[in-house]
Amino acid sequence: MDKKIVFSGIQPSGDISLGNYIGALRNWVEIQHDYHCLYCAVDMHAITVRQDPKKLREQSLAVIALLIACGLDPKENIMYIQSQVPQHAELAWVLNCYTMYGELSRMTQFKDKSQKHSDNVNAGLFDYPVLMAADILLYQADLVPIGHDQKQHLELARNIAERFNGIYGDVFTVPDGYIPKVGGRIMSLAEPEKKMSKSDPNVNARILMLDEPDAIMRKFKRAVTDSEAQVVYREGKHGINNLMTIYSIATGKSFSEIEAEFDDKGYGEFKPAVGEAVVELLRPIREKTLELMKEKDYLMSICTENALRASALAERTMRKVRKKVGFVQR
Ligand code: TRP
Repeated sequence: MDKKIVFSGIQPSGDISLGNYIGALRNWVEIQHDYHCLYCAVDMHAITVRQDPKKLREQSLAVIALLIACGLDPKENIMYIQSQVPQHAELAWVLNCYTMYGELSRMTQFKDKSQKHSDNVNAGLFDYPVLMAADILLYQADLVPIGHDQKQHLELARNIAERFNGIYGDVFTVPDGYIPKVGGRIMSLAEPEKKMSKSDPNVNARILMLDEPDAIMRKFKRAVTDSEAQVVYREGKHGINNLMTIYSIATGKSFSEIEAEFDDKGYGEFKPAVGEAVVELLRPIREKTLELMKEKDYLMSICTENALRASALAERTMRKVRKKVGFVQR
C-alpha cells in the first residue's frame, strides 16, 4: 500500500520505436519493483480511427508480448488489454458528465486528428481524452509516464478528478506526470533536430523494435550527420550527438570512451558500429516477442489473468463512484 501507483497506456499500433524503448519501456523495467505498475494496451482508444479488426487484435497481443520481452514481469506488473476490463468504458461514461464540451474542443490532438481524418470525425475521437482520464483515475494512479504530446490530456484528467472530488469528496487520486530519471531523447535519423517518431512517413528516420537486423543496419548507414567526419559530442552536431547517445545506451560506454574509440576513424566506421550495437540490443527482445506471439494460449492466459487483476482494482473505484453519483446498488 505504501508503493505508489504508476499507470500508462500504449497504442496497439504495432510500431513501437527505439525512441519509445529508450525513453520509456527501458525505464519501466528499472522501476518495476519500486511501484505498483499497470500498463494497458489501449485498443478502445485505437478504434477512434478505423482499424483492421484482425490486425488490431494481433497488435494488442503484440504489445503485451513486447512488454514481457523487454523484461517486465507479468506477475510483478499488471499488463493487460483495455477492452478486457469493462470498467474503463463504464467510468468514461460517468466522467463524460463531468467534462465540458468546451474543454474537449480545446484539445490540440483532437484538432489535429480531426483534420487528418476529416472523413471520420466521430464522437469517440472527441471523447478520447475522457476515456484516457478514466484509464488513469480507475486505478488511483499517482504517476503517469507520458510523452510531451499527452500533457494536455493529463492536465484534463487532473481537472476532471478535482472537479469530481470537489462535488463528492475524495474519490480520485489526482495524478502527476512522470518523467524518468535516466532520460535519453532519441532523435530522427533523417532530420536529427526532430524527435524520432514512430509515425514518421520516412521509414529511414526511425528504428522500430521489431525491425530486422538488415533494416536496422541500412537505416544507421543512411543516418544524416554533418560534414565534419569527427566523432565528437558537441553543441550543434545533432546527428552525431544522437548516434553517440544511442551507442552509449546500447553499449554502456561513456561519450569520452566513444570519442577515444573512434578518434582516428570517420563516420563510415562509426555508423555501422552504432547499427550493430542496436541490432544486438534489440535482438533478444525481438526474438522473445516473436516466440511469445507463437505461443498464443500462453499469451492469452497472461492477458486474461492480468485483466482480472486490473478489473478487481478498478471495481473498488467503481463501487465508490456508483454510490456517489446515485446509481442503485447491483
Ligand atoms: N493517449 C496515449 C497516447 O497516445 C495513450 C493512453 C491511453 C494513455 N490511455 C492512457 C497514456 C493513460 C497514459 C495514461 O500515447
